[in-house]
Amino acid sequence: MKRINTVLLELTVGILDFLYRERHFQRFWVLEVIARAPYFAFLSVLHFRESLGLRTPSHFLLMAEHFRQTVNETEHLQEMERRGGDRYWVDRFLAYHLVLVYYWCNVGYYLIAPKSAYHLAAEVEKHATHTYEFYLLTVDRDDTRIQEIMEDEHTHHTELLKAMEMI
Ligand SMILES: [Fe+2]
Ligand SMILES: [Fe+2]
Repeated sequence: MKRINTVLLELTVGILDFLYRERHFQRFWVLEVIARAPYFAFLSVLHFRESLGLRTPSHFLLMAEHFRQTVNETEHLQEMERRGGDRYWVDRFLAYHLVLVYYWCNVGYYLIAPKSAYHLAAEVEKHATHTYEFYLLTVDRDDTRIQEIMEDEHTHHTELLKAMEMI
Protein backbone atom coordinates (compact mmCIF):
# COMPACT_ATOMS: atom_id res chain seq x y z
CA MET A 1 0.00 0.00 0.00
CA LYS A 2 2.86 2.38 0.77
CA ARG A 3 4.07 2.14 -2.82
CA ILE A 4 0.55 2.90 -4.12
CA ASN A 5 0.30 5.87 -1.70
CA THR A 6 3.59 7.29 -2.97
CA VAL A 7 2.73 6.84 -6.65
CA LEU A 8 -0.76 8.39 -6.26
CA LEU A 9 0.63 11.30 -4.28
CA GLU A 10 3.45 11.98 -6.75
CA LEU A 11 1.00 11.92 -9.64
CA THR A 12 -1.43 14.33 -7.93
CA VAL A 13 1.35 16.62 -6.79
CA GLY A 14 2.89 16.61 -10.27
CA ILE A 15 -0.42 17.71 -11.81
CA LEU A 16 -0.96 20.44 -9.18
CA ASP A 17 2.61 21.67 -9.48
CA PHE A 18 2.18 21.93 -13.26
CA LEU A 19 -1.19 23.72 -12.99
CA TYR A 20 0.02 26.14 -10.31
CA ARG A 21 3.43 27.21 -11.59
CA GLU A 22 4.10 30.76 -10.36
CA ARG A 23 0.75 30.90 -8.54
CA HIS A 24 2.12 30.18 -5.08
CA PHE A 25 -0.72 31.28 -2.82
CA GLN A 26 -3.40 29.69 -4.96
CA ARG A 27 -1.43 26.43 -4.88
CA PHE A 28 -0.89 26.67 -1.11
CA TRP A 29 -4.59 27.37 -0.61
CA VAL A 30 -5.65 24.33 -2.66
CA LEU A 31 -3.10 22.18 -0.79
CA GLU A 32 -4.34 23.44 2.58
CA VAL A 33 -7.97 22.69 1.68
CA ILE A 34 -6.96 19.13 0.78
CA ALA A 35 -4.51 18.69 3.68
CA ARG A 36 -7.23 19.20 6.28
CA ALA A 37 -9.48 16.43 4.99
CA PRO A 38 -7.62 13.41 6.42
CA TYR A 39 -7.85 14.81 9.95
CA PHE A 40 -11.62 15.28 9.66
CA ALA A 41 -11.87 11.76 8.23
CA PHE A 42 -9.76 10.25 11.04
CA LEU A 43 -11.89 12.02 13.65
CA SER A 44 -15.12 10.80 12.00
CA VAL A 45 -13.93 7.20 11.95
CA LEU A 46 -12.64 7.34 15.53
CA HIS A 47 -16.01 8.71 16.70
CA PHE A 48 -17.81 6.04 14.70
CA ARG A 49 -15.65 3.23 16.12
CA GLU A 50 -16.15 4.60 19.61
CA SER A 51 -19.93 4.67 19.10
CA LEU A 52 -19.78 0.98 18.26
CA GLY A 53 -17.92 0.23 21.48
CA LEU A 54 -14.59 -0.22 19.72
CA ARG A 55 -12.63 2.32 21.74
CA THR A 56 -8.94 1.52 22.21
CA PRO A 57 -6.52 2.94 24.81
CA SER A 58 -5.03 5.29 22.19
CA HIS A 59 -8.42 6.68 21.09
CA PHE A 60 -8.43 9.83 23.24
CA LEU A 61 -4.87 10.73 22.35
CA LEU A 62 -5.49 10.31 18.64
CA MET A 63 -8.78 12.23 18.69
CA ALA A 64 -7.24 15.12 20.62
CA GLU A 65 -4.26 15.19 18.27
CA HIS A 66 -6.35 15.13 15.10
CA PHE A 67 -8.66 17.84 16.42
CA ARG A 68 -5.66 20.05 17.17
CA GLN A 69 -4.29 19.36 13.69
CA THR A 70 -7.58 20.38 12.04
CA VAL A 71 -7.52 23.68 13.91
CA ASN A 72 -3.90 24.27 12.95
CA GLU A 73 -4.61 23.49 9.28
CA THR A 74 -7.55 25.89 9.37
CA GLU A 75 -5.17 28.62 10.57
CA HIS A 76 -2.95 27.86 7.56
CA LEU A 77 -5.97 28.03 5.29
CA GLN A 78 -6.98 31.41 6.70
CA GLU A 79 -3.46 32.72 6.10
CA MET A 80 -3.64 31.66 2.44
CA GLU A 81 -7.07 33.30 2.15
CA ARG A 82 -5.57 36.52 3.54
CA ARG A 83 -3.01 36.26 0.72
CA GLY A 84 -5.66 35.82 -1.98
CA GLY A 85 -5.34 32.07 -2.43
CA ASP A 86 -9.09 31.57 -2.84
CA ARG A 87 -9.68 34.64 -5.01
CA TYR A 88 -10.52 32.77 -8.24
CA TRP A 89 -13.54 30.62 -8.95
CA VAL A 90 -11.52 27.99 -10.80
CA ASP A 91 -9.29 27.34 -7.78
CA ARG A 92 -12.27 27.06 -5.44
CA PHE A 93 -14.03 24.74 -7.90
CA LEU A 94 -10.98 22.46 -8.12
CA ALA A 95 -10.26 22.41 -4.39
CA TYR A 96 -13.85 21.80 -3.28
CA HIS A 97 -14.31 18.91 -5.70
CA LEU A 98 -10.95 17.38 -4.87
CA VAL A 99 -11.59 17.57 -1.14
CA LEU A 100 -15.01 15.98 -1.49
CA VAL A 101 -13.46 12.89 -3.07
CA TYR A 102 -10.36 12.92 -0.88
CA TYR A 103 -12.37 13.13 2.36
CA TRP A 104 -14.47 10.05 1.59
CA CYS A 105 -11.44 8.13 0.30
CA ASN A 106 -9.76 8.83 3.64
CA VAL A 107 -12.82 7.70 5.60
CA GLY A 108 -12.83 4.36 3.78
CA TYR A 109 -9.07 4.01 3.86
CA TYR A 110 -8.82 4.72 7.60
CA LEU A 111 -11.66 2.30 8.36
CA ILE A 112 -10.02 -0.53 6.44
CA ALA A 113 -6.29 0.19 6.77
CA PRO A 114 -5.54 2.92 9.34
CA LYS A 115 -1.76 2.53 9.23
CA SER A 116 -1.75 2.97 5.45
CA ALA A 117 -4.08 5.99 5.74
CA TYR A 118 -1.66 7.54 8.24
CA HIS A 119 1.22 6.81 5.90
CA LEU A 120 -0.52 8.63 3.03
CA ALA A 121 -1.29 11.64 5.26
CA ALA A 122 2.33 11.66 6.49
CA GLU A 123 3.55 11.71 2.89
CA VAL A 124 1.21 14.63 2.14
CA GLU A 125 2.63 16.52 5.13
CA LYS A 126 6.19 15.77 3.98
CA HIS A 127 5.32 17.17 0.59
CA ALA A 128 3.75 20.26 2.20
CA THR A 129 6.94 20.84 4.21
CA HIS A 130 9.06 20.64 1.04
CA THR A 131 6.66 22.91 -0.87
CA TYR A 132 6.94 25.68 1.73
CA GLU A 133 10.68 25.14 2.05
CA PHE A 134 11.07 25.54 -1.72
CA TYR A 135 9.08 28.78 -1.61
CA LEU A 136 11.31 30.12 1.18
CA LEU A 137 14.47 29.17 -0.71
CA THR A 138 13.40 30.51 -4.10
CA VAL A 139 10.93 33.35 -3.49
CA ASP A 140 11.10 34.93 -0.03
CA ARG A 141 13.34 33.58 2.70
CA ASP A 142 12.19 36.33 5.11
CA ASP A 143 8.55 35.26 5.13
CA THR A 144 8.32 34.32 8.81
CA ARG A 145 4.68 33.19 8.67
CA ILE A 146 5.50 30.69 5.90
CA GLN A 147 8.45 29.50 8.01
CA GLU A 148 6.08 28.85 10.91
CA ILE A 149 3.64 27.01 8.65
CA MET A 150 6.49 24.90 7.24
CA GLU A 151 7.47 23.93 10.79
CA ASP A 152 3.84 23.04 11.57
CA GLU A 153 3.74 20.73 8.53
CA HIS A 154 6.93 19.04 9.67
CA THR A 155 5.39 18.55 13.13
CA HIS A 156 2.26 17.03 11.56
CA HIS A 157 4.48 14.63 9.60
CA THR A 158 6.26 13.37 12.73
CA GLU A 159 2.96 13.17 14.67
CA LEU A 160 1.43 11.00 11.94
CA LEU A 161 4.41 8.65 11.99
CA LYS A 162 3.91 8.26 15.76
CA ALA A 163 0.16 7.75 15.24
CA MET A 164 1.00 4.89 12.87
CA GLU A 165 2.64 3.10 15.80
CA MET A 166 -0.28 3.84 18.16
CA ILE A 167 -3.21 2.62 16.10
FE1 LIG B 1 -1.12 23.18 6.52
FE1 LIG C 1 -0.19 19.90 7.88
